[in-house]
Amino acid sequence: MTPPQQSANLRYHERLKQVLPGGVHYNFNMPWEEVPLHFVDGRRSRLFDMDGNEYLDLYARFGAMILGHGHEEYLEALQSAMRVLCVSHCDFDADPLELMRTHIPSAEMIRFGLSGTEILQAALRLARAYTGRNRFLRFENHYHGNADNIMGGRVADPANPVPVDFKGDYKGTDGRADNVMADQSYMLPWNDTERLEAFFREHAEELACAVTEPVCVNGGSIDPAPGFLEKLRSLCTEHGVVLIFDEMITGVRMGVGGAQRQLGVTPDLTTFGKAIGGGGVPVSALAGKREIMRLLEGKKVIHAGTYNGYPLGSAAVKATFEILSRNDEAVLHRMHDRASELQSILVAAAEAVGLPLIVQGPPGVASFHCCPQPLEHPGQYDFELMGKDIMVATALQRHGVLVSSVSRIYPNAQLSDDDLEFFQVRAEKALGEAKQSIDEIF
Ligand SMILES: Cc1ncc(COP(=O)(O)O)c(C=O)c1O
Repeated sequence: MTPPQQSANLRYHERLKQVLPGGVHYNFNMPWEEVPLHFVDGRRSRLFDMDGNEYLDLYARFGAMILGHGHEEYLEALQSAMRVLCVSHCDFDADPLELMRTHIPSAEMIRFGLSGTEILQAALRLARAYTGRNRFLRFENHYHGNADNIMGGRVADPANPVPVDFKGDYKGTDGRADNVMADQSYMLPWNDTERLEAFFREHAEELACAVTEPVCVNGGSIDPAPGFLEKLRSLCTEHGVVLIFDEMITGVRMGVGGAQRQLGVTPDLTTFGKAIGGGGVPVSALAGKREIMRLLEGKKVIHAGTYNGYPLGSAAVKATFEILSRNDEAVLHRMHDRASELQSILVAAAEAVGLPLIVQGPPGVASFHCCPQPLEHPGQYDFELMGKDIMVATALQRHGVLVSSVSRIYPNAQLSDDDLEFFQVRAEKALGEAKQSIDEIF
């Protein structure tokens, strides 16, 4: 690494901080916060910073860059869409929407938006309009965007499971509107079927919807316990509650049909974002049952946005689904295989230095954790474990490997054998250092 006094990264960061709060457009901590990095180029799976350092990019812009950097077919599709950059109602919409409908079980009708946060709020509004009820149910350590009513919090009194702010919340914020979480929602531990059933017995009639990540990636890439999503599905059906899957991360990363097709549980509404647009441009989507989605017709329920359905975004979704679905999702299968190899390399490197470390979750959305056994529910992902994971992420970054917050390994479609070799060499060095710092602190 370049010495700090000569670092172009650092000089640029100082300049940026004068006009950009914190020098970043984003608040959640990233591994490279310790040494601010600014990138000048990206090719396939690699990134290059202002000091000329090379990185393997397993951060992938919080999972969005599923095609890697500079994917030729994708770039060509975007370039040819530029001719109508700022026009609405062009002929770009039908193809991507029909492609999505073909692959995604819940997608009878679809609307596009821009961010995940915004599309999730649109889903809540639609569920409220459909049911005439106000509250929604969400789960501990899941993440559904940075809106006041849905970010962070924890339950203080299990007898009345409403989320409230607490000191030290990683996803808490000053400036939140008063009582907005407690007035609108309930929060339960995930993967606890007994609690879920008891809760529905008491509160189901208050619920417009239940929202869940189908695999809890934000809580540590935890798979649903056998039968949990099926039970949630049947309780929602029984009580007229809209079931929303937030597939912002799992959508396309687990397969073009999303987690729902893999897991065989179909929600009423699904939210997508990040990787559905290939990573180059922002697109989110709300997909769902015709009967519910049709409330968006005739201005009954408002979903609006200047750039909704912009041509470049629609072209990006079309190209992404075409590339990833071709030949029975061959690109995704190869990406998953390479991701599994990356995981084995990491586990072996940790074993070699005596650091307890596991990798869990489906290969497109997996996370590593510095513990001997996989986590079973997101509540287990506590500050101590997160602290250890961050130490591994930081050591990896020092050796040229970027992972996503906190310990997610996001593969992309262009991962190569060369990338695996690069990873092996860097991971072996990084894990030794990480073990040393973890032993000093914990
Ligand atoms: C599961 C999930 N839902 C919603 C969001 C919010 O999406 P965005 O950051 O595009 O607003 C995220 C972002 O990380 C997410 O992981």
